[in-house]
Parts: sequence; structure tokens; C-alpha cells
Amino acid sequence: MADVLVAPSILSADFAKLGEEIGAITRAGADMIHVDVMDGHFVPNLTIGPMVIKALRPHSALPFDVHLMIAPVDPLLAAFREAGADIITIHPEASPHPHRTLQAIKACGARAGISLNPGTPLAALDYLLDGLDLVLVMSVNPGFGGQSFISSQLRKIEAVRQRIDAHGGEIILEVDGGVNAQTVRQVIDAGATALVAGTAVFTGGPACYASNIARLKQPPEAV
Ligand code: DX5
Ligand code: ZN
Repeated sequence: MADVLVAPSILSADFAKLGEEIGAITRAGADMIHVDVMDGHFVPNLTIGPMVIKALRPHSALPFDVHLMIAPVDPLLAAFREAGADIITIHPEASPHPHRTLQAIKACGARAGISLNPGTPLAALDYLLDGLDLVLVMSVNPGFGGQSFISSQLRKIEAVRQRIDAHGGEIILEVDGGVNAQTVRQVIDAGATALVAGTAVFTGGPACYASNIARLKQPPEAV
């Protein structure tokens, strides 16, 4: 089986030198750059917007995996695409018409993802898988890095895996929140193909990034 993709969340990077941090994780073996966009309204934290993403874009050739935790989300989709987002993931609660929002993401040329909060039922995916590129299962409540993995979400990851397999096509199953050396084996075994990790990648500073990423890609087998 192919290695999982690792998408470091720059939420845990040093915000005083984000460009350098993105360069460092790129050289350390990251597969995508995960950018957490928060509005202080849909989630209780406020981070960055399209201007910062545009400034960061030249610092890595990797895909920018942009996780939008903003509502309403529709008015800003084009701005994030123009800033350099390659994948744009939305929460269904952030749009009155999630299907239309996903179509709008595709229409502006990005890959489209949908994210399920820990309390969001699997049924939120109904009728949305056609044309979808990524499902993001949140294994913490969105808003902050460094939270503990919510183990009930393992069952959801397994259920999403079954849905994707039954549907067919290339849909990335990404898991976000509390993914670290202790939890990663279960997450992969449940069917994830991409891992978001903030704390687990950025702990220890740049000298540790390559080993931190390698540890997530190839965790020991379950015993
Ligand atoms: C939470 C964000 C996550 C978070 C992950 O709302 O979507 O990407 O930064 O951080 P860790 O890996 O520290 O749980
Ligand atoms: Zn995220």
C-alpha cells in the first residue's frame, strides 16, 4: 500500500517566520501544506486569510491544502483560489447549499473537499461524493491545535472508507486533529490516506521535521 500523505498544519508553525517554516517542512518530506483558516465566528479562533496565503505561495511547490473554517464560506472561495489554494475544503454547516459550494470550488479550478466535525453525521456526505476530491474527518473539534484525538472518530473514518470504496474514484480520506505517534497507527488502519498534523510535525523545531514526518508515514505495525 502506498505511504499515507502527510500534510503539516502550519497552525503549529512559528508565525513570525511562516515562509521559512513552509520551506523547511517541504524539504523535510511533507506532501501537502495544510492551512487552517479560521474566522472567530464559525470556530472560536482567528488565523489567516488569502493575503497571507498569497505571500506564502512562493515558498513551496507542494499543494496548498486549505481548510476553511469560515461562515459564510461562498463569498471568499475565489479569493482563496487566486491566492494559491490547490485543495479547498469546506464544512457543510458553513454553507446553506454545500453541493453548490463544492461546484463553485471546482469551477474556479481547485480540488474540492468536505469536512465532518466530530458531531457531524456521516449522512452529511450523502449525494456529495460525485466529483469530490477529499473527505476530511475532524478528530478534534475545530479551532485549535494541540487537542487530544477523539477516539470515537475512528469508527467514522472506517465508515467513510467504506463509502469511498463503494463509490469508487480517487477520493483522499484525510484525518485532522490529535494525529501523533500514539494515534497514527489506528488512523491509518481505519483507512486514512492523508494525515494532518500540527503539533506532531512542528515539535522540536526544524531539525526534527524530517524525523517527525517519517514517524507518521511509517509507524510501527499494531501488535
Ligand atoms: C484544528 C485544525 C487542525 C489542527 C491540528 O481546527 O483543523 O489542522 O491545527 O493540530 P494538531 O495536529 O496539533 O492536533
Ligand atoms: Zn485543519
